[in-house]
Amino acid sequence: MQKNAPIGIFDSGSGGISVLRTALRMLPDEHFIYFGDTANAPYGTKTEEEVTVLAKQVAEKLLSLGCKALVIACNTATCAAAATLRAMYPDLIIIGMEPALKLAHDLRPEGDILVLATPVSLSSAKYRLLYTAYGEHAHSVPCPGLMDFVERGDIESPELKAYLEDKFAPYLAKGNTPAAVVLGCTHYVFLHKVIRSLLPESTLVLDGNEGTVRQLGRRLTQENLISTHAPAGERVKILTSGNESSLALMQKLLDLPM
Ligand code: DGL
Repeated sequence: MQKNAPIGIFDSGSGGISVLRTALRMLPDEHFIYFGDTANAPYGTKTEEEVTVLAKQVAEKLLSLGCKALVIACNTATCAAAATLRAMYPDLIIIGMEPALKLAHDLRPEGDILVLATPVSLSSAKYRLLYTAYGEHAHSVPCPGLMDFVERGDIESPELKAYLEDKFAPYLAKGNTPAAVVLGCTHYVFLHKVIRSLLPESTLVLDGNEGTVRQLGRRLTQENLISTHAPAGERVKILTSGNESSLALMQKLLDLPM
């Protein structure tokens, strides 16, 4: 495998673009092929088996394009399919995501931690293990339909705010202040600003993007696959199973000042 080969990143749609943005910033000598499986989104309300079939198809596609590593930039696909993909490609660097519950627990050992994620992620065996280890003060908050706002390009509408207010209401009742909110789906990272605006100032809002990219950098270094020269051409190629407008949305989210 060549050091200057691209890194493949994928998600059910445009959420993983938030991970790609972090990777572009933290790994300046790497280049990336991003695949958004928009035609099959959302993953988060399917079965684990269905998500695994889809994730396998996307992984095959990215590997056929010569990727030296794969980032599953989707908590849902990681919960459902990471183990299967690692068994299929034992020599490949495969980096997954998980809700940043450990980080939240370390930073806020006391107080309520809300973990926002898809129904598939929150009902998976992988999440159960994480919750058993770090979830003593955590509340799992399934958010079916929340990713669809982002897929529609909506990151600030009154309807979106109403959806989130409804989710937070039980935890903000009687002046309660959650210690932390974990964005356990890569789509939700694009909602950071609106989520922040609905919470008390002392509530931390965390995601797992930097930790994931740090792990990617570590693995590339260990395997002597980290690129040491900035690529000559474009650093990103975006592919999708969706249509022109999904491609346009991904490009817009990639370029969004945040
Ligand atoms: N972005 C995905 C995640 O991190 C899920 C969105 C979906 O439901 O497809 O979980």
